Amino acid sequence: MKPKLLNVVILAAGQGKRMYSDLPKVLHAIAGQPMLAHVLDTARSLGAERICVVYGHGGERVPETLEASDVIWIKQEPQLGTGHAVLQALPHLDGDASTLVLYGDVPLIRRETLAQLIAQASSDVLALLTVYLTNPKGYGRIVRENGAIQYIVEEKDADDAERAITEVNTGILVAPTAKLRQWLPGLGNLNSQNEYYLTDIIALAVDEGMAVRAVHPHHEWEMQGINSKAQLAELERIHQRNIAAVLLDHGVTLADPARIDVRGELICGRDVSIDVNCVFEGKVELGDGVVVGPNCLLKDAAISAGARIHAFCHIEGAVIGPQSIVGPYARLRPGAELGAEVHIGNFVEIKNSTIADHSKANHLAYIGDATIGQRVNIGAGTITCNYDGANKHRTIIEDDAFIGSDSQLIAPVTVGRGATLGAGTSLTSDAPPGQLTVSRAKQVSFAGWKRPVKQKK
Ligand code: UD1
Ligand code: MG
Repeated sequence: MKPKLLNVVILAAGQGKRMYSDLPKVLHAIAGQPMLAHVLDTARSLGAERICVVYGHGGERVPETLEASDVIWIKQEPQLGTGHAVLQALPHLDGDASTLVLYGDVPLIRRETLAQLIAQASSDVLALLTVYLTNPKGYGRIVRENGAIQYIVEEKDADDAERAITEVNTGILVAPTAKLRQWLPGLGNLNSQNEYYLTDIIALAVDEGMAVRAVHPHHEWEMQGINSKAQLAELERIHQRNIAAVLLDHGVTLADPARIDVRGELICGRDVSIDVNCVFEGKVELGDGVVVGPNCLLKDAAISAGARIHAFCHIEGAVIGPQSIVGPYARLRPGAELGAEVHIGNFVEIKNSTIADHSKANHLAYIGDATIGQRVNIGAGTITCNYDGANKHRTIIEDDAFIGSDSQLIAPVTVGRGATLGAGTSLTSDAPPGQLTVSRAKQVSFAGWKRPVKQKK
């Protein structure tokens, strides 16, 4: 069956006064992405023909931040209400399709719920997403007669009887576009807020004998809007709890599902275990049996099977080979690529470097712009001096080399296969393979030398 043609209009022009922020409300982040981006992703997942975003407050910052070329951006200025907002989008919609109205500040609405709503709508049926709330305060109320929806009244315009109704308008609806073209230009604003209410189209549809069908979301949080930082935090936690639930369903062990934050895509193999307070950003892949210790941040990283990340690691743009051990307190920066069974210990920083199988840097080192072979041992305090103040240079350390503690490798420089650097070496030219290279002065001792003594004043 060919899916129905669909327009989506996302209302995102509102100010968000109660956020007390210079950032337009719809750009505040849920899981590291502007809340509007979540709504856009959901709209795309419905296979919409056209997606319009009505923006206004915050000006061009909204389209500039989202950088979505598949979206028709429509500026609404001034903002005269939800009906006025959808009116601005009308010329851009496909008249043969239905139009789904979403809100940019209702980010957790699920695709499945919207698919149900769309399935109900047709050229002579208006579908409305409504919900029963124990505390309906602030919402438009759904007024029914003999069970059939008659109209929506805003809280500010409602009488006591209407205010007692607990079925509320989520704002999300699907209407035939041809009907919107007929109704919206004629809306009035004679109400307590002097706004053009989109909700007034319900009564118009009923007058025409159109059916108005209600669909309810499976979860209340799907329709929750964000108007304050408290609501932003609340929905963030709900969203993270949902992500954690999916991970658990797939067999990931989470020390505490309430203490993990996934701000992107986390792909896990079998028997992955994640301790508390870990943050995952961008795209992170954890292979089979990977163990991540507490308090780690992983961003755009691929960790191969059996690797262990100990506590307090900061890993970004890195690839970690199978069975490797990293941390505690290690920092892997973009371009760090570790082979199999590599050991990176505490206070080791690695940037734009490859470290081949079975090599180790267990303590206190900086490895930048380096190519390190297999079975290399990097002693504590080793530094690749990759930057001369103007340009970056590479360090090459071949297989089986041993770098003594507290060595500086002044790039560009190569340590040959099987070479050994004595501790404290400042390597300024290549170290030949298989030999011991030492740059420090010969050790001398002075017999009879006396420590200076403090002079009496
Ligand atoms: C609206 C509904 C109300 C519903 C509630 C659900 C109307 C008249 N009322 O009320 O029945 O219960 O949502 O949350 O529709 N917006 C624009 N341009 C405008 C006005 C609003 O883009 O000129 C956007 C806002 O940014 C927001 C959404 O539309 O994303 C809803 O606007 P808001 O003012 O929050 O509507 P409510 O008064 O809460
Ligand atoms: Mg309002």
